[in-house]
Amino acid sequence: MKNEIKIFSPATVANVACGFDVLGFCLDTIGDEMVIRKTSKKGIYITKIKGFDLPYEAELNVAGVSALAMYDTLDIDFGFEIEIYKHIKPGSGIGSSAASAVGSVFGMNELLGKPFNKTQLTEFAIKGEAVASKCEHADNLAPAIFGGFTLVKSVSPLDILEIPTPMDLYTTIIHPQIEIKTSESRALLPKDVPLRDAITQWANFGSLIHALHMSDYELIKKSIRDVIIEPQRSKLIPKFDEVKSAAIKAGALGCSISGSGPSIFSLSKGLETANKVKDAMQSVYSKLGIEFDIHVSKINVDGIKIL
Ligand code: HSE
Repeated sequence: MKNEIKIFSPATVANVACGFDVLGFCLDTIGDEMVIRKTSKKGIYITKIKGFDLPYEAELNVAGVSALAMYDTLDIDFGFEIEIYKHIKPGSGIGSSAASAVGSVFGMNELLGKPFNKTQLTEFAIKGEAVASKCEHADNLAPAIFGGFTLVKSVSPLDILEIPTPMDLYTTIIHPQIEIKTSESRALLPKDVPLRDAITQWANFGSLIHALHMSDYELIKKSIRDVIIEPQRSKLIPKFDEVKSAAIKAGALGCSISGSGPSIFSLSKGLETANKVKDAMQSVYSKLGIEFDIHVSKINVDGIKIL
């Protein structure tokens, strides 16, 4: 059995407009790298962090907390070292903490000979994610582990459904270089939702799931709408409305906030349209003087992988 493994832990888009806290999809080219290594000393040790300033104490680090959640269930006489090469900026809205939380448990599971299934890995990772967002949810974690689109039907007990990914679906994601903490972005959400908004939201959500199953791009277009969360959170994102209308005008099927923001994602049919949408979205931000990254990605149907 191997003693060391290097993995790619992908970024993800959670919520997908109308699926707050339950729907997410996995990105192809954006993600962190991590090395997980067995060590003769018992316990979990974060030995290297590159890219961003994050805690080395396992109990305070997202990757460490999920690793400890798994480790505490094991009866073994060795431990694990974790190296984190962080490329996803914390607070970017594309599942930075989820990538860390998932990476450690995926790598440990591989080194242990895969005793845990994907749902169990997600369960351990939830403990790490909760450090960052102060709440247990799995809509970023599940797509990172399973790949494609996932629906978290229930967190307790954890029940994850894999939703088919239409072949020609691409995403364009713009990330203004400002930080929005998930915990803060959750704090401003309404505690109660008017029934008329709830009806609109579950109609859109149901039809989006149906559209993904049917690869019905027109129905995807009619369904990616969020009348509950986006109106609140978009106030935190500079020129959100302009970016969104530019994306739609350029041919995107839909556009909304990625996770808790500030990243904004759109979905398009085909790479050519996704690239046109990229030009349109970045033209809004170029005028603002706010630095940004922008990516076009196919939906990653494989999820986290060994490098
Ligand atoms: N569903 C979560 C939110 C994703 O929007 O707050 C971010 O962790």
